[in-house]
Amino acid sequence: MIVGKRTGLEEPGEFVADGVDGLMIEAAGVQKVFEAGGLRVRALRGVDLGIRRGEMVAIMGPSGCGKTTLLNVLSGLDELTGGEVRVDGEPIRGMSDRRRTRFRAEKMGFIFQSYNLIPVLSAIENVELPLLVAGKKPKKARRWALDALEMVGLPEQADKRPAEMSGGQQQRVTVARSLVNNPAIVWADEPTGALDSETSKGIMDLLVRLNREQRQTFVLVTHDAAVAARAHRTILMRDGNITSDEPNGSPRGEGE
Ligand SMILES: Nc1ncnc2c1ncn2[C@@H]1O[C@H](COP(=O)(O)OP(=O)(O)OP(=O)(O)O)[C@@H](O)[C@H]1O
Ligand SMILES: [Mg+2]
Repeated sequence: MIVGKRTGLEEPGEFVADGVDGLMIEAAGVQKVFEAGGLRVRALRGVDLGIRRGEMVAIMGPSGCGKTTLLNVLSGLDELTGGEVRVDGEPIRGMSDRRRTRFRAEKMGFIFQSYNLIPVLSAIENVELPLLVAGKKPKKARRWALDALEMVGLPEQADKRPAEMSGGQQQRVTVARSLVNNPAIVWADEPTGALDSETSKGIMDLLVRLNREQRQTFVLVTHDAAVAARAHRTILMRDGNITSDEPNGSPRGEGE
């Protein structure tokens, strides 16, 4: 289960953390260099960052500043060129590919802007797929997937295919899929980027509620200041560096 206890008395951004330092993600001097066609791009130039358990962090910055690259190296989807990343206390650099893939499957959920749903599968089949891949029994996978669809308010859409749903509904299916394993960390890259402002607010209400109720750690890339304001904290990036990292002072909305 997710660690970190809340007393209900904390201000937004304040946590009572378990463990030695309460950090879920620790990055020190993280560098990423892409070499393509004789061109060398320094996408991350020495990023230091700590994210606490149960925290929801927004990452903002101009196109090309390295936001997606940062998510990719922190989550172990991509190799780092230099520096150290620890997730839940474990250095991801030394892990074998196989171990890292398993680590991700057990601990992480991903929400991207392009929904990445499989068109020929129904909503519930899309949601249960990661469980089946992880070797869960079909009956159990179906039950958990239905729970996840209920959590995002879509149980009646279970048998529909992605093309038969609205953009917001499809995005909620991807949220259900990313949460079906009860991951400790959810990475989201512009989860509301393709949605109108009303639907976007609905998705953020959902993510804030899950963050609050399930105590998952959320790392959220967004171009939308209204979306970032719902997080506990906003990190600004520019040219592969973090240029500012501040708690969000204002309330998060939806009862908090
Ligand atoms: N696979 C790659 N090969 C070469 N260069 C890359 C690769 N991926 C990203 N880059 C470069 O690294 C830099 C950071 O890219 P990144 O995708 O992290 O930006 P971003 O902040 O997510 O931008 P956006 O807001 O447009 O999504 C850019 O200069 C980009 O061109
Ligand atoms: Mg990006």
